Amino acid sequence: MRLNENTQIIGKHVNLVPYEPKHVSKYHNWMQSRELQQLTASEPLTLEKEYEMQKTWRMDHDKCTFLILCWKKYETTKDENKALIGDTNLFLHTEQDSGEKVAEIEIMIAEPDMRGKGLGWESTLLMLKYGVKYLNVKKFVAKIGIDNVASIRMFQKIEFQEEARSKVFNEVTLYRRVNEKWLKWLDGQAIARGPSIGMVCKTSSSSWRARCKCTSIQQGTLGSGGCIACVYVRVLDPVQVPAAGVPLGPDGTEPAPPLLVTLEF
Ligand SMILES: CC(C)(COP(=O)(O)OP(=O)(O)OC[C@H]1O[C@@H](n2cnc3c(N)ncnc32)[C@H](O)[C@@H]1OP(=O)(O)O)[C@@H](O)C(=O)NCCC(=O)NCCS
Repeated sequence: MRLNENTQIIGKHVNLVPYEPKHVSKYHNWMQSRELQQLTASEPLTLEKEYEMQKTWRMDHDKCTFLILCWKKYETTKDENKALIGDTNLFLHTEQDSGEKVAEIEIMIAEPDMRGKGLGWESTLLMLKYGVKYLNVKKFVAKIGIDNVASIRMFQKIEFQEEARSKVFNEVTLYRRVNEKWLKWLDGQAIARGPSIGMVCKTSSSSWRARCKCTSIQQGTLGSGGCIACVYVRVLDPVQVPAAGVPLGPDGTEPAPPLLVTLEF
């Protein structure tokens, strides 16, 4: 969907970043794995189809996707593709009876050596929070292979309950309704990295200006260092920043409109 095409979500150990054409080749390689095809109930696509799929994920109003970037790997390599470890998706629809938004959530930590480190957990919680806060989701469902113990346990730990079981599809459907108690639980999970930039705005070909969530307006040069609060600016790939400068707001302080929205929950 277009809503999140310029959004990245900052967690404690992962960033969720928009799916872009530069990521397709790596994604395509992941999906050649028989194990992943089976665990995610996916069919392998040609590279060409995978590029089409990326566009679909970007454009369709009922699909929201983020790729998962391991922050530690990114810090070491400074290479977004090397730091990618998986993806998480929401398929949205409106429930006929209640008129409420329902989202089917998917999660994949594609790199086997990155599993079992809490990264799937963190990415899922970030996506759930995004769904509640920005997409007004009132109910989540997860369809999981009956033998996928890791995924079933994880969603049970996130307080999902069984809704249905299909022998034909060999899958179990878990669900979670959004309510105050669960939101409180979600908010209580330690998945935030700390104070971060709220919005980033490019003011000329190489400089940026941003309002930090915790302090004041920060500014600097793309790719340069900066104050500790601006560390989040440096993780942004300058390629993602459109070439044209964007004017500041009328009072000269608030960046408007945001080019890259960085969310921290
Ligand atoms: C399922 C998956 C998302 C879990 O993410 P992960 O990063 O490996 O798991 P985490 O380290 O975040 O663990 C979170 C919880 O999941 C459960 N879990 C994870 N791995 C498990 C395993 N091997 N056995 C049993 N439970 C497991 C546990 O409840 C764990 O919490 P705990 O560590 O407090 O016990 C990940 O393994 C994955 O993507 N696998 C391949 C693709 C897939 O199966 N996707 C789901 C399709 S529905």
